[in-house]
Amino acid sequence: MLPEYKDGVLSWGGVNLEKIAQEYGTPLFAFSADVFSRRIKLVSESAKYPHLLCFSMKSNNNYHLLNEVRLAGAGVDVVSYGEFFIAQRCGIDPKKIVFSGVGKSDYEITQVNNSGILLLNIESESEYRFVKKLFSEVGLNFGISFRVKFELSLDRLHPYLGVGKKDSKFGISEEVAFELYEDAVKSNLPVEGLHFHIGSQIKDLEIFYEVSKSALNFVEKLEKEVGVKLRYVDVGGGLGLDYENLTEPPIDRYTDAFKVLADAGYKIIFELGRFISAPAGVLITKVLRKKKREGLKNFLVVDAGMTELLRIPLYKAYHKVIPVRDGVAKEKFDIVGPICENSDYILQDVFLADVEEGEFLCVLYAGAYTSTMLMNYNGRPFPAEVVIKDGKTTLARERGKWEDLIPRPN
Ligand SMILES: Cc1ncc(COP(=O)(O)O)c(C=O)c1O
Repeated sequence: MLPEYKDGVLSWGGVNLEKIAQEYGTPLFAFSADVFSRRIKLVSESAKYPHLLCFSMKSNNNYHLLNEVRLAGAGVDVVSYGEFFIAQRCGIDPKKIVFSGVGKSDYEITQVNNSGILLLNIESESEYRFVKKLFSEVGLNFGISFRVKFELSLDRLHPYLGVGKKDSKFGISEEVAFELYEDAVKSNLPVEGLHFHIGSQIKDLEIFYEVSKSALNFVEKLEKEVGVKLRYVDVGGGLGLDYENLTEPPIDRYTDAFKVLADAGYKIIFELGRFISAPAGVLITKVLRKKKREGLKNFLVVDAGMTELLRIPLYKAYHKVIPVRDGVAKEKFDIVGPICENSDYILQDVFLADVEEGEFLCVLYAGAYTSTMLMNYNGRPFPAEVVIKDGKTTLARERGKWEDLIPRPN
């Protein structure tokens, strides 16, 4: 599944990564459609109960990868009209689209209502009031669901990635959500689901079992006291990965966490992003300059940085880096980007083969929350993206041009 050395050069899915770096230039995102679709399959085969996988587009919205989502019969989780627009262009079935997000605008809700989607995951009372108004004026082309923040002890989650915490901006408290369900049922709104998403990059799978139990109590109480039996429980995403050792998380233990809900008759919606897309991408970057200083750190200054890997300064995230040409690890380097920020590093204190200027490095697990977080800071055009499938490489996004950096008023 990961790139491997073949005759001393990294190869992925039958494609020589040095050759594509030379052909398309760097920095270059390479996504493997083969790995991506295999990971979708891993989820579907592991969850042996009625479910729908709605791949989280915020982790990667590459058109060719979304095509794999469509071919697998899966759907997507979107958080904006922009993501919905891309999904529609890719031919994703709108009835397999769920829409979450704490700040959906009236315009965005109206737009998805015009097309129709599976579920709108409501995140505030104000949003609910707008949806109710829309229902009375034109009717609804989606089922409604509330994103509930269950009372869990989530202190073990990352401060930025643990979004299900009680005082986070996301979702609605259990108490308020219950009242909104009551009102929605009384008002004959199409109440179809329950949604939660406790955070991202979660490696302690016990939390999923805990939230699953809380969700079951909640839906049972709804059935008993409000008389509504929901169809879907949308369990969000969040399954974490080991970016250092690159070992696979126990997917069966993860899907098993929601079996109690499935056994109670609810169709499970997964909004996994990272688990599917991170290992399906690498970022290839070229060494621009070597800075060696006696008694001080050695630097490899490369042509990718925080503009392509914002998640490093944002979350202090770790990415493993290996040379595209195999070699014996000799010296310790800091791999840093060319951007004028101290936080613009890729990896610090890493033992690497003595790579020469002009040679390439490969950043692993770079398929999630990377190409969807690009920016032009320091006047840097967006990198190119290629997709590898069945041993062939397709240019999926052209490298940004210098002209793209200049706003055009007309
Ligand atoms: C509502 C929602 N669903 C799904 C995801 C995907 O999470 P992950 O990529 O960790 O699976 C996120 C990301 O944090 C999210 O905010």
